[in-house]
Amino acid sequence: KTLLKLEERCSNLSLSDDQIERVCATLLKEIENGLRQKTNGVADIKCYPTYVRNLPNGEEKGKFLALDLGGTHFRVLMIHLGEATPEKEFVSRIFAMPTRIITGSGESLFDHIAECLALFLKEYKVDKEVIPLGFTFSFPCRQEGLTKARLVQWTKGFTCANVEGEDVVELLRRAIHKRGDVMIEVVAVLNDTTGTLMACAYKQPACRIGLIVGTGLNACYVEKLENIECWDGDFDDPKQCIINTEWGAFGDNGCLDFVRTEYDKALDDASLNRGRQLYEKMVSGMYMGEIVRHVLVSLAKEGFILNGSSYRHLLKPGKFLTKYISKIEDSPEGDFTNCKCVLEKLGLMNFTPEDCAKIRYVCQLVSQRAAFMAAAGVATLINKINEKHVVVAVDGSVYRFHPHFHNLMVQKINQLINPGLTFELMLSKDGSGRGAALVAAVAARVEREET
Ligand code: BG6
Ligand code: GLC
Repeated sequence: KTLLKLEERCSNLSLSDDQIERVCATLLKEIENGLRQKTNGVADIKCYPTYVRNLPNGEEKGKFLALDLGGTHFRVLMIHLGEATPEKEFVSRIFAMPTRIITGSGESLFDHIAECLALFLKEYKVDKEVIPLGFTFSFPCRQEGLTKARLVQWTKGFTCANVEGEDVVELLRRAIHKRGDVMIEVVAVLNDTTGTLMACAYKQPACRIGLIVGTGLNACYVEKLENIECWDGDFDDPKQCIINTEWGAFGDNGCLDFVRTEYDKALDDASLNRGRQLYEKMVSGMYMGEIVRHVLVSLAKEGFILNGSSYRHLLKPGKFLTKYISKIEDSPEGDFTNCKCVLEKLGLMNFTPEDCAKIRYVCQLVSQRAAFMAAAGVATLINKINEKHVVVAVDGSVYRFHPHFHNLMVQKINQLINPGLTFELMLSKDGSGRGAALVAAVAARVEREET
């Protein structure tokens, strides 16, 4: 079966301009719904106010700690803002987060976090100091203030018991207190998107959006208080607040079904959170490889690919990692060295160069669809914010490591934004850790300025 027939067979994985415009229009409606008083936190797109209202102005100073949980790695960081020598600015350590902890009890999760923090503080000999700490906790939380965040629902494979509905700052404080060997002052809790936005805004005053395309998918943006009907804080200046959209759940009410395919449905059916995070499941790193695997298995069954080679190696869920997509696409057209390497790693044999061309084609379709879906989201926010120039801070493994994701997004956003508006997508590397320190620092600066 030829490449042409394959294109026809896979046509449901390419999005037409009309479909993408419909995605944008639907998303805007859903975000507006989330901001409403009556539906805030109930609508699919939750639009949680973060209580982060002041952006950094570059004058923040001091030593801060950050915990960063929810991405590929769990990290503890110590940051010196305003430090003259950049190499002294930042120390961080990655700690393992074993599956038994991710799927165990809430108590052991927070005990583990507290233990890592204590080890870090002792390693850097600051365990006798009380350093302000920002806690990046990258899951959907309803915030009740800058230091209070109730987990609404786990995402991205975490399932720790007895945490949903609880204030995660309190759970962290309790676990630290129980140890009794370190002291900590948690001054802010935030989402990774907020951290990413803040870290970028430190250098780029036009930054208004923070986007993560990593293990999960989410965005936050700066919204005017007058547009946040559900706002329950005061109306002092600045009359704005960062909104954590939690738009990974876009589509959970069926409004994205017009672009979802049988592969998306199969993936969702087998997931730990069935029926939830449907937009996230089309775009993010935790799922993209699995979509490709579903497509490949179904093509192999129909005889489109891997005729001479057994495809049984592709039958195991989770076998095709998202990083393989980046690797396969990261070689010139017609050069299958990387593709061969991936297929051999998967245990496939006797595949032909034509198989490689077709598998690469499938990877391109799936990653392009993801990039266009993410672009639709960003363009919707840029149009909503409607400022002449907006910088979008971006982080996450898919955005960082896929060789074409950035360019595909830029191309599509350009097509979708209103005339006269301009934008830049800017990598905010490790932003959520740095951002946690900045949220803490800005809170400290504003307090200083007010007294
Ligand atoms: C990084 C953060 O900046 O981006 C992570 O430090 C965050 O904690 C992440 O969640 C998103 O990327 P990934 O691919 O690790 O989920
Ligand atoms: C998931 C989480 C969200 C986070 C995103 C990116 O969607 O629910 O809070 O920002 O992943 O890490």
